Amino acid sequence: MKTRMFGNLTLRHVLTWSVLAVLSTAAGLFLVRAALGKESGKEPANVDWATYEATQGATHYTPLTQINKSNVKDLKVAWTYDIGESVSIDNPIILDGIMYLSGRDGSIAALDAATGKEIWISEPKMVTARQRGLAFWESTDHSKRRIVFYRANHIRQIDAATGKLVPDYDIDLKVGLERDPETVFNVQTVSPPRVWHDTLLVGSAPGEEYGSAVGDLRAFDLNTGKLVWQFHTIPTPDEPTAKTWGPNPRAFHGGANTWTGTSVDESRGIFYAGTGASTYDFWGVDRPGDNLYGDCLLAIDIRTGKLLWHFQDVHHDVWDYDLASTPVLFTAKSRGKSVDAVAIAGKTGFLYAFDRVSGKPLFPIEERPVPQGEHMEGEQLSPTQPFPTVLKPFVRQSFTVEDIDPAIPEPERSEIQARFRTLRWEGIFTPPSTKPTLEAPGSNGGANFGTTAADPVRGRVYVAGVDIPAVLQLAKSTPQFGAGNNPMERGRSLYQKNCASCHGADRAGHPPTFPSLIGVSGRLTNEELVDFIHAGKAPMPGFPNIAGQSMTDLLTYVNNGFTPSDAPPRRQMKGLAEGEPRWRTDYGYWYDKRGDGVMRPPWSVLTAYDMNTGAQIWQIPVDSDPEYPIKGIKTGTGDTNKVGIVVTGSGLLFVPEDRLKKLMAVEADTGKVLWEGDLPEKAVGVPAAYAVHGREYVVVPAASGTSRPKSKPGTQTVGESKSPASVHNQFVVFALPEAKR
Ligand code: HEC
Repeated sequence: MKTRMFGNLTLRHVLTWSVLAVLSTAAGLFLVRAALGKESGKEPANVDWATYEATQGATHYTPLTQINKSNVKDLKVAWTYDIGESVSIDNPIILDGIMYLSGRDGSIAALDAATGKEIWISEPKMVTARQRGLAFWESTDHSKRRIVFYRANHIRQIDAATGKLVPDYDIDLKVGLERDPETVFNVQTVSPPRVWHDTLLVGSAPGEEYGSAVGDLRAFDLNTGKLVWQFHTIPTPDEPTAKTWGPNPRAFHGGANTWTGTSVDESRGIFYAGTGASTYDFWGVDRPGDNLYGDCLLAIDIRTGKLLWHFQDVHHDVWDYDLASTPVLFTAKSRGKSVDAVAIAGKTGFLYAFDRVSGKPLFPIEERPVPQGEHMEGEQLSPTQPFPTVLKPFVRQSFTVEDIDPAIPEPERSEIQARFRTLRWEGIFTPPSTKPTLEAPGSNGGANFGTTAADPVRGRVYVAGVDIPAVLQLAKSTPQFGAGNNPMERGRSLYQKNCASCHGADRAGHPPTFPSLIGVSGRLTNEELVDFIHAGKAPMPGFPNIAGQSMTDLLTYVNNGFTPSDAPPRRQMKGLAEGEPRWRTDYGYWYDKRGDGVMRPPWSVLTAYDMNTGAQIWQIPVDSDPEYPIKGIKTGTGDTNKVGIVVTGSGLLFVPEDRLKKLMAVEADTGKVLWEGDLPEKAVGVPAAYAVHGREYVVVPAASGTSRPKSKPGTQTVGESKSPASVHNQFVVFALPEAKR
């Protein structure tokens, strides 16, 4: 009951406790620190944002109440931290007045969280651009305090006091996946791992292609680097789930991986992770069955690595419907009883919630028949899929020609209508085929990384959803391979053949018409590069046939410098013979010439659920296109890469608005927008809130030119061309003016 009490206290009450108060809630720990032994009643408190997504329960929740509904309008920028051209979308961690984040040139920095002054900055190129956050570990014997992070597919640590790399802690994540490490596309994810006591819990991002590696979850000892356990999301032939696949799935399939955030029930020692689709994402003829544990919420005993329970939200996925948001922990009241619960939002647009211990659904979920019409020859579709019956979807799951955005001018609108009429559509889970097929929500729709939050005290869950469809169409294509012994050589050969004519033999391009590709990895993530290169953007043609390992090779060359050029030769994976055609589709995100959703706005929405009753209590559009021609309509952006939420004890939500270049404060009870503060650049990541010496702060990462490339040729906006000198990507920190507190 400590939690409820704390929910009603203000920070000022807390300040009077001259103790180290550790408030344990159902959803994790809040550390409220006050120095011991100083003058009682006057010593200011620090309130931490102790991990990625705030708490072990990934709630995005802070108990702070200093910034409230009546004074939020007085918020001002307190300080900023400029990271130049580098793009960081970090949800920073703040511990005892120190903020840790990834900053300039891929460095990691420790800042005074009250002033932004650098305490230390590490050597550059520690982390990849667009990393989503870091992990912090203090050993149980208190002898070590470290920042734990991914670096070039390894796990490394730096000393939290000095910023120096710990030389003897180095885990190669490509090893141990029962594949020749040289054939592994990629392993590390850009979402930070989770720490439980001296155990590190690690997901992966092995890619979504033919030949991608298995998406095992692994636990490592933070002291020794030893593997503690490895959980197979794709089974060996003797494991019980093997019957949900074809023969020997680990040899041929990959994915079923956790590429986003995870959460931990601290006191019970349970790890919660959502997994993605099994590869290849859109064609499952070679993986007959439900494909367990792809698209699952997994509850794993951290001490043993054994599965406690699971829930699969999409059986035999052929839509790339990764369960890609972080599971959030909270406590709900069910028929007068408190239930410790976990919820996870899907790309399907559904929110799924369970008793955290038993895995029993909090509200009914039923298997319903789904479309079985035209599909790929040999595809064994699941006859049913799970549908929550009480928790309403948070985005649209069906569209008609009437839903096409009335603001799109003619003749484009008629063209979109005509295209829409040719699409196959039998409802959600319409199987893809060789004919253009509507996918609603699209695979970039619904929920994604960083977009879910919970108020563990009030029993609420908030979801920021993307509300746009996609169009899938499978076609046979023959993969292209480069020549040579190592990735750099093969990449160079692919580059010279396909790209050098425009971007120059040396990657320097011929600006302004043909941009330089030197340093492009600082502007776009590998995922965005892949999307962009597959789709093209007039006059640049798309290159859908450069995929899988060949794409890795190409990017190794294009991003030259990050992967060492003396990397050992990478061999072809078994079963991926050169020249053998494969079924593929692009992601088919459907945007118009403005680069916006083709359907009626809003293209992104924020939804509040009361998890005690299962009711949706409100829904509002997030962000807006200022140039949208119909006045009074807030459009949303339809973009997934920025809408994280901070939930405060005072009943506020802070949500970034990327296009408007604003941070908004929303009244949690009603969805009413109370304040919108200007940002110098576009918000790009999940904000965080914390207090130092009794002053509450909200921090949000912001950057220029960060729109996602979209896969419809001729419509993308990739990085506004700004010269490096004018680029001031930065962390922006808001607080109340000293006098107003
Ligand atoms: C016919 C000329 C042409 C070819 C061939 C071509 N590109 Fe491009 N590329 C362009 C143009 C023009 C742009 C700028 C598009 C825009 O943003 O309007 C571009 C943009 C890009 C960008 C985005 C750069 C940024 O900073 O936003 C990347 C990445 C890229 N190309 C990679 C490649 C790769 C890799 C290949 C070979 C597989 C390739 N291109 C082949 C013309 C070409």
